[in-house]
Amino acid sequence: MEISEIKNHLSAEIVGEKFFVYDEVGSTNDVLRELIGDGLAADGAVVVSDSQTVGRGRLGRKWLSPGGVNLYLSALFCPEVSLRKSSVFTFLASCALVEVFSGYGVEATIKWPNDILVGGKKISGVLTELGTSDGAVDYLVIGIGVNLNLPEEFIRREMEDISEKTTSLSILLGEEVNREKFCAELINALDRFYGEFRRRGTGAIVDMWIEVWGFLGKEISVDVSGEVVSGVVERVDANGFLYLRTDKGDLRKVIAGDTVF
Ligand code: BTN
Repeated sequence: MEISEIKNHLSAEIVGEKFFVYDEVGSTNDVLRELIGDGLAADGAVVVSDSQTVGRGRLGRKWLSPGGVNLYLSALFCPEVSLRKSSVFTFLASCALVEVFSGYGVEATIKWPNDILVGGKKISGVLTELGTSDGAVDYLVIGIGVNLNLPEEFIRREMEDISEKTTSLSILLGEEVNREKFCAELINALDRFYGEFRRRGTGAIVDMWIEVWGFLGKEISVDVSGEVVSGVVERVDANGFLYLRTDKGDLRKVIAGDTVF
């Protein structure tokens, strides 16, 4: 990834003001945390790597991260936000991703809490990790993986169990995507939404996310630690928690889990 080429497309104010680009790392989230520990990364710092040797997803899953094809990015946010509301930053990243994909004429959808799908197949995921002290949020590291130029044969060969459920932007567009440009567009979008958060707070991000997500008033099923809870989404509160009205009439509050289709 060419840092100068990324900078050519950047118009962000805070996100990406400090920028670190690597050829290969274990995980960009870990590199960013090390930079924070060494006092080298402040609010808005971004780490990008061409490849990752131990890229990870949520719930201890592996995030395959071959070189030369995709985007692996971690961004640092140091907001004034409570622990309860911190998942709103996953929402912020999801909204930014959906907006960038739409600029390519691709209609992406959000699968709560952190997957971005196109046509039911996963194209991107967000891994939010927190630094806390005394029960308060010090910082959030938002790790984003986007399948940009991942070829179909790689998906078939290397991602057997999830190959049917995975896609990339180049597969959808039928042409190679400029990774540096996409990276800058994503940073610009993260920066805009971060500005929105700073001006108007978490409520504005949740409201925007609810609209993009589109499941308010609709029935969904969520796997909560092995228990599948189904119900109509009655509301999403300012913390980003879901409230599902089950067919028995109970209102179930869901803080964490995975949407199941
Ligand atoms: C998921 O869908 O489970 C989240 C995937 C997140 C992958 C990204 S790639 C950049 C950053 N570094 C990592 O090790 N993971 C995240």
